[in-house]
Amino acid sequence: MLIRGQTLSFAANPFRAPPGDSLRHNRRGAVRVEDGRIGAVAPADALLPRPGEAVVEMGEALLLAGFIDAHVHYSQTRIIASWGARLIDWLNRYTFPEEARFADPAYAAEVAQDYLALSLANGITSASVYCTSHPASVTALMEAARPLGLRLAAGKVMMDRNARPDLLDSAERGHDETQALIARWHGVERLEVAITPRFAPTSSPAQLEAAGALWAAHPACPMQTHLSEQPEEIAWVAELFPDAPDYLGVYERFGLAGPGAIMGHAIHLTPRERAALAETGSGIAHCPTSNSFIGSGLFDAGLAADIPVGLATDVGGGSSFSMLRTMAAAYEIGQLRGRALHPAQLLWLATQGAAEVLRWGDKIGNLEAGREADILALDLASTPVIAQRAARAEDLWEQIFPTIMLGDDRAIAGLWVAGRKLR
Ligand code: GUN
Ligand code: ZN
Repeated sequence: MLIRGQTLSFAANPFRAPPGDSLRHNRRGAVRVEDGRIGAVAPADALLPRPGEAVVEMGEALLLAGFIDAHVHYSQTRIIASWGARLIDWLNRYTFPEEARFADPAYAAEVAQDYLALSLANGITSASVYCTSHPASVTALMEAARPLGLRLAAGKVMMDRNARPDLLDSAERGHDETQALIARWHGVERLEVAITPRFAPTSSPAQLEAAGALWAAHPACPMQTHLSEQPEEIAWVAELFPDAPDYLGVYERFGLAGPGAIMGHAIHLTPRERAALAETGSGIAHCPTSNSFIGSGLFDAGLAADIPVGLATDVGGGSSFSMLRTMAAAYEIGQLRGRALHPAQLLWLATQGAAEVLRWGDKIGNLEAGREADILALDLASTPVIAQRAARAEDLWEQIFPTIMLGDDRAIAGLWVAGRKLR
């Protein structure tokens, strides 16, 4: 199959190279898809259909890699947009009661379907997902994702203290249930199991130690947790772990830092923590709509020059399933920190940047020969206000930026997962 449109591929990391020069663009381009992979990306007049090959004409639409959501809680789909609370209060008032409902596997299956439909409608073809502490909540998501052919990491939340009793496991149970899920799902087609200690306040030292031992035994699994999201949370961690040098130090002590670690938020970092993230090769999930919605703070996206950083919706702390809206929020937070993120940098965070955080950087995230064919077609004139601004564009970036700032699911003109058209 050939898909024709404007093609966009990264040639370099736009946080390290001049952003405007970091991409390859064909105004009239074509992508060849064969056996679920990208066979070639080239100008359309250099990539002609073979006899019998199907041609999908996407016109002026922008073809790029599917979006990757580096941190999302599918179990919070039903409580998105819950009013009036900061992190700890929000967890207790809205999140934990909702997560308790996932004791019912039928409920988990229903929400998993809705979550995947919402993600796909927004051009998200891959994600790193938090489930709940119930192992069946992971199985429900895996069973919903598998027939779609999605590349997905998901984990059972490990939490053994400081939450309602019906959500708590124990150090041993959290370990054993996660291990059983790894045996069942890790490496099944494109599915991976993420080791998922929720965050330091809801895990005892014994549970963090068990999580570290599990990761050492299964180093190919991603490991996801939350780090330095709100000042009150950071103060609580300091009380709970008085011997640790700082928040990240707690995770480091238990072997929970390194390549494949996905630290959600990581807003209020000390210079030591920044250096340690870079030295250990840990990654960060930047969750801009969540960081403003829960009132957490202004993440410094400049860290992406030294640390793998991916963009994330963080639903339901995050207030949107749209990766375009999430890019817009990242832009606005950048502005408040004095850094106007270039459109190429925003697109990087939502694709190749997130792929690198998940150690999928050679598989997905870029429209390039050899990659798995997770492809997104963006309509760059999807609403009247976007169309009239894009019509004034003087270069490619001015053509794309209105869709980043103003676009939503109406901009998703087409979506292929491993070469199969899903929208
Ligand atoms: N910290 C611990 N759990 C959570 C969660 O579910 N959402 C967010 N935003 N932060 C957390
Ligand atoms: Zn989160």
